[in-house]
Amino acid sequence: MLERLERLPVDPILGLMAAFRADADPRKVDLGVGVYRDDRGETPVVKAVRQAEQAVLARQTTKAYVAPAGNPAFNQAIERLVLGDEHPALIAGRVRSIQAPGGCGALRLGAQLVQTASPQSLVHVSTPSWANHVPLLSGSGLELARYPYFDAASGAVNFGAMLGALDKLPARSVVLLHASCHNPTGADLSEAQWRELLPLFKQRGLLPFIDMAYQGLGGGIAEDAFGIRLFGAELPEVLVAVSCSKNFGLYRERTGSLIVIGESPAAADADLSQLVRIARSIYSMPPDHGAAIVQEILASEGLRSSWTDELSGMRTRIRGLRNDVVARLTAAYPQRSFGFIATQRGLFSFLGIDTSQVRELREKHHIYMTDDSRVNVAGLRSENIPYFAEAMAQVLQK
Ligand code: LMR
Repeated sequence: MLERLERLPVDPILGLMAAFRADADPRKVDLGVGVYRDDRGETPVVKAVRQAEQAVLARQTTKAYVAPAGNPAFNQAIERLVLGDEHPALIAGRVRSIQAPGGCGALRLGAQLVQTASPQSLVHVSTPSWANHVPLLSGSGLELARYPYFDAASGAVNFGAMLGALDKLPARSVVLLHASCHNPTGADLSEAQWRELLPLFKQRGLLPFIDMAYQGLGGGIAEDAFGIRLFGAELPEVLVAVSCSKNFGLYRERTGSLIVIGESPAAADADLSQLVRIARSIYSMPPDHGAAIVQEILASEGLRSSWTDELSGMRTRIRGLRNDVVARLTAAYPQRSFGFIATQRGLFSFLGIDTSQVRELREKHHIYMTDDSRVNVAGLRSENIPYFAEAMAQVLQK
């Protein structure tokens, strides 16, 4: 039976990881998969994570199951981290959450919840969006549609086109938004644009499903949650998929959460009961380790402040790299403007070159990025930015 299955091509992002590892050239530069890297090109374990992990292991006396919705203290701590301590939806008791295997698990749980409530609803995803949004969300059985988002010429959000498209959607449409550090463009909604979107969501009865994969890596912990906090306070229902992969550096521990803001405490309870059933039918219960670490960090003043310091260091480094690479690219190839890279946020930017140029960078210069020219800015280092800028200039000069 199974021998009939055809072999599939590798995932466009994960395939790059393998290709990069196999490249023996010492000049190689990995701008592919979205993981934070330091100036030595490494993704170290966050200091607070290392300490919290030791405390968790020293205290742990059993590996018995935790609970169907995961670690309740982790869930509460994440709600507060994302929404802020005094958020009106928390005070009104209409927030529930379920620990998920990474942000991906949270996205799938949210989609599955919508599919249970309203199987005819379409999920509208930005053009472009993270490649894995499509299989993750459509795997729930929901149909997907696209809305315009990015203006390649300016490197910013094409807000007029976005508004125009969302303003035509029927009630009960789901709109996937990126809280901050838009993947793959780095172009974020401003606070004014979030405010402008709000009445449209209200009037048209749209459900925002907000993907929060980079809290703290864009403008700051509160700044990156602005849209979620605003929508959560003003709208009856909001879904938020939270990932702890990047901001806590817990990638392989698969740590995340789906937050549901319901119309009332009773509605939120019903949503959570559905989510627990959905999770039980897919993987039963989430892995514990990463969530226990995050809970430990967020509960301890010392660990929390060590974590926020390190996170702020990551954010500052990414911003610095953005400025440096713009300066180097502009010096190497002044015919083109790269200033948009410095105004974008988070790990990613599009370079705006075509697939053949991307391939040339990979094959001739050992510089790896996805075919759409998305680069992980954090993959750059002070020592390889000049090499990268020169290679870009050579490719562009042709
Ligand atoms: C990325 O976009 O590179 C990251 O989110 C990692 C992944 O799983 O694709």
